[in-house]
Amino acid sequence: MVSKEQIKEQIEGLRAELNYHNHKYYVENSPEISDYDFDMKMRQLLDLEAEYPEFADPLSPSVRVGSDRTSEFVAVKHRYPMLSLSNTYSIEELTAFIERVERESGVTEFVCELKFDGTAISLTYEHGRLLRAVTRGDGTMGDDVTNNVKTIRSVPLTLSGNDYPELFEIRGEIFMPYASFDRLNYEREIAGESLFANPRNAAAGTLKQQQSSVVAKRGLDSTLYQIAGDKLPYKNHVENLNAARSWGFNVSPYMTLCHGVAQVVEYINYWDEARKSLPFPTDGVVVKVNDFQTQHQLGFTAKSPRWAVAYKFKAESALTRLESVDFQVGRTGAITPVANLEPVQLAGTTVKRASLHNAEQIAALDIRIGDMVYVEKGGEIIPKITAVELSERNEGSLPFQYITHCPECGTELVRYEGEAKHYCPNQSGCRPQILGRIIHFIRRKALNIDGLGAETVELLFENGLIGDIADLYTLKATDIAHLPRLGEKSADNIISSIASSKSVEFARVLFGLGIRFVGETTAKYLASHFKSIDAVMAADSNALMESDEVGEKIAQSILDYFADPVNQGIIERLRAAGLQFESQQVEKYSSVLEGKNIVVSGKFVFHTREELKTLIELHGGKNQSGVTSTTDFIVAGQNMGPAKLQKAEKLGVKILSEEQFVALVGESTLPQIEQEAEYGEQVVQTSLF
Ligand code: IVH
Repeated sequence: MVSKEQIKEQIEGLRAELNYHNHKYYVENSPEISDYDFDMKMRQLLDLEAEYPEFADPLSPSVRVGSDRTSEFVAVKHRYPMLSLSNTYSIEELTAFIERVERESGVTEFVCELKFDGTAISLTYEHGRLLRAVTRGDGTMGDDVTNNVKTIRSVPLTLSGNDYPELFEIRGEIFMPYASFDRLNYEREIAGESLFANPRNAAAGTLKQQQSSVVAKRGLDSTLYQIAGDKLPYKNHVENLNAARSWGFNVSPYMTLCHGVAQVVEYINYWDEARKSLPFPTDGVVVKVNDFQTQHQLGFTAKSPRWAVAYKFKAESALTRLESVDFQVGRTGAITPVANLEPVQLAGTTVKRASLHNAEQIAALDIRIGDMVYVEKGGEIIPKITAVELSERNEGSLPFQYITHCPECGTELVRYEGEAKHYCPNQSGCRPQILGRIIHFIRRKALNIDGLGAETVELLFENGLIGDIADLYTLKATDIAHLPRLGEKSADNIISSIASSKSVEFARVLFGLGIRFVGETTAKYLASHFKSIDAVMAADSNALMESDEVGEKIAQSILDYFADPVNQGIIERLRAAGLQFESQQVEKYSSVLEGKNIVVSGKFVFHTREELKTLIELHGGKNQSGVTSTTDFIVAGQNMGPAKLQKAEKLGVKILSEEQFVALVGESTLPQIEQEAEYGEQVVQTSLF
């Protein structure tokens, strides 16, 4: 019989081993065991943790896989602001900075580092354990993204060694290596999802994902470049960062100590070229004073430190001729102009097309057909035109005339208030819009009809077999088996994956309809708030806005969608085909809240608002959107609206915290939402910095 003590030891042993191998693999890039052996150890740990929840640890290496639970982010005030750096593109300005520092302080020791192109993060460690991770936000307040950051394997959850301060903050960059970025966009393309423009956007977007399990899969990485705390072991930047490396952090091996202007410029010139072969994006070099005392003496301006500067590499650009402009029509009818260029070499690839965004941008740059234009590749997927070389403009060239009619169906274009793009309003008769909607409908995150792809949808459409999403459900294998590239087997696959989509939950069906501005999350909120398509269709603007995430613009778009008789017809045909138009009813958990009217307001640490509302219903209570004299109590999180608070005080309505509410109903697993090992650090401010 194995004792509890032995189990605990075994679990701790596995955790230590996995932490060690994680660091070897993700920080040192020198794994000692195979992926398979690593996975086996992880499985063993997961099994033990599931069997013995009393030994759970929120910082166990098993949290790296993330959770499917959605979470909103709690805003946290930075202990000291996250400033930015002053930038320069000129070696003269950089030289002036170095000479000023040397003159003012007498030091000549500078640290040169690469400027990583990701998104800034601030990590706090207490007693060698990760306490929280916060984004830069507006520099004063950031979002607590601890659960997401825990899935990034190069971020140590617990530290090695014993010379780290009891409490300290370390800042750096979360970035996406090119390989992860390419894989992510490839997968998104296959799934018919919009692509990330560059690794920086992908890193920032991923860090703000509501499900940490999604973050875990996207291959983010980290590097740390600034440390602060009361009892740091050394009095300069380089030595402290070297110490941080020994505690397990990923500190760039390219950080170099330089003396005087000449060495700094040498570093810059070297990396301006060498960075092109790095596996992650960089956009410059950061030059910092090494000595802390001198940093302190030089101080800060309102926006940036006076002891550091960023030298930015010039984006590579090329000059070429604009031959013509194409106009693409998207699923929602949005028109995107795309420039066709005389092919030109730029940053290692041949560029033939560039994005032009919208009519205003073309007018602002006064871009004309035949012009010589500058194209830049600032890490974007398709390069952009940044300027026109006016000295080479052809005499007699005319200002660009933006199209007035849809290039696909000839309908007159419209502009919606507050939007830069033109739209083709012919939703039901314009080919790319029809196809786009069907392709959106079959997407993995919508109805997930994986037997079909964009090409097959086009084929079915060309052959007159489908004209809208509802037609998919009347298709028969015998109608399509004879089509080119298909055959009986693929036809059967298609029909059976269409049939399985009938059991896809209501929220995803709602998302699949492709209502403008109703993304995946909004659809989830709508489904959980209204419970059925009939209730959504019956709601007026005010009622719609009671659902989370729905403002005036989204409410109007939903109303427009359901007011259209064509859409009403589609809904009825989908309903007849047997699609899910109601949220699944689940059995009640208890009746502790029977007869109670409850308002949920603010942001919470362990649950989203919708989760709390679901819990209220499952325990027999009723959700109210506003405080009235009938309200029994309010479950209040952070940032509860001041109007609600005032009213509650006036009416003497009781206010419960999230913890009090959970204590009242007893924590229980929500249906369809997997709970992770429950844990969370409250935002506790201590007085170190
Ligand atoms: S030091 C007081 N070092 O650049 C600011 N920043 O423009 C201290 N960045 O917000 C920042 N690589 O996100 C520093 N080696 C590096 C960096 C770096 C990238 C980013 C960081 C910062 C921005 C400033």
